[in-house]
Amino acid sequence: MSADPSTWEFPVTDPLASAAPPWLPGKVAVVAGGGLSGPEGGVGFALAWLYHRQGAAIAVLDRDPAAAARTVEGIRADGGDAEAFVVDMTDDDDVARAIAAVMARFGRIDVVADSIGGGGIEGIFETTVAAWDFAMELNLKSAWYLLRHAQSHMTRGGAAVLVSSGAAEGRGPGLPYGIAKTALEKLAVGAAATLAPRGIRVNCVRVGMIWGAFAAKGMSQEQREIRRQNVAMQVEGNNWDIAAAGLFLSTEASRWVTGQVLSVDGGGMALRNMGQAGAK
Ligand SMILES: NC(=O)c1ccc[n+]([C@@H]2O[C@H](COP(=O)([O-])OP(=O)(O)OC[C@H]3O[C@@H](n4cnc5c(N)ncnc54)[C@H](O)[C@@H]3O)[C@@H](O)[C@H]2O)c1
Repeated sequence: MSADPSTWEFPVTDPLASAAPPWLPGKVAVVAGGGLSGPEGGVGFALAWLYHRQGAAIAVLDRDPAAAARTVEGIRADGGDAEAFVVDMTDDDDVARAIAAVMARFGRIDVVADSIGGGGIEGIFETTVAAWDFAMELNLKSAWYLLRHAQSHMTRGGAAVLVSSGAAEGRGPGLPYGIAKTALEKLAVGAAATLAPRGIRVNCVRVGMIWGAFAAKGMSQEQREIRRQNVAMQVEGNNWDIAAAGLFLSTEASRWVTGQVLSVDGGGMALRNMGQAGAK
């Protein structure tokens, strides 16, 4: 050990010691589900916006041309570079075509984010074979298609973020969705291990009970308030809370973090003193 401090160099030579925004200048980020699908926005839209604000050019992959165009127009109006690619993420060939088109337009891929997902609340034995298959296509296989076609274009320093859900811990209603999200997390861990030797990281953000496009469809204000109270911090999260975590996982700030599932959920479910089992 060097005991004499007068011989030390002040230990701030690591790039992270002086790192500052913008975090993604000159980079290209692909955001699947990055369309602006409603007045609340979605997680994908918020990710696309934050990547843009950090200097990246954005490839918006979405099946809804109008939603994709809204994101692109917003980013361009803010001085950024973005392009829409209309694609059904549940179709492997379509995803392959979209990634080829992204490469033709931008010439590189540095960041990949997948925000495709959703599901119903059927129980495991109430759901149909078709609904089960669709849950897997939408929440799991779409991410695999995206990673498998994008990864070959990525180089050292690249990062991917998959959007999971607290439903991965669920045991009741909506199990096909929860099972697909659990598998999605496993996909992230496996892809991370596979791509680590190439210096490419893959992580998951597990979304808690946020208020956003997904939740805003068909929830009453009363249900919304119960949801807020069920969060440990008693504060409702939103798309930006999720996207900010996704941004961290996409930049050099998290250069030594891979294969992880980061829960962004206000501390999870509120702890309640239930007394003895059965007591109020
Ligand atoms: N909002 C929540 O409460 C919540 C909670 C837990 C998890 N999540 C997860 O967050 C993610 C995003 O949810 P959101 O509420 O922001 O959704 P959103 O509806 O705002 O965004 C989804 C976008 O993906 C597009 N899309 C859907 N299916 C597609 C397909 N097959 N191909 C191409 N594009 C497609 C839609 O057009 C839309 O623009 C999902 O993975 C969801 O499971 C959300």
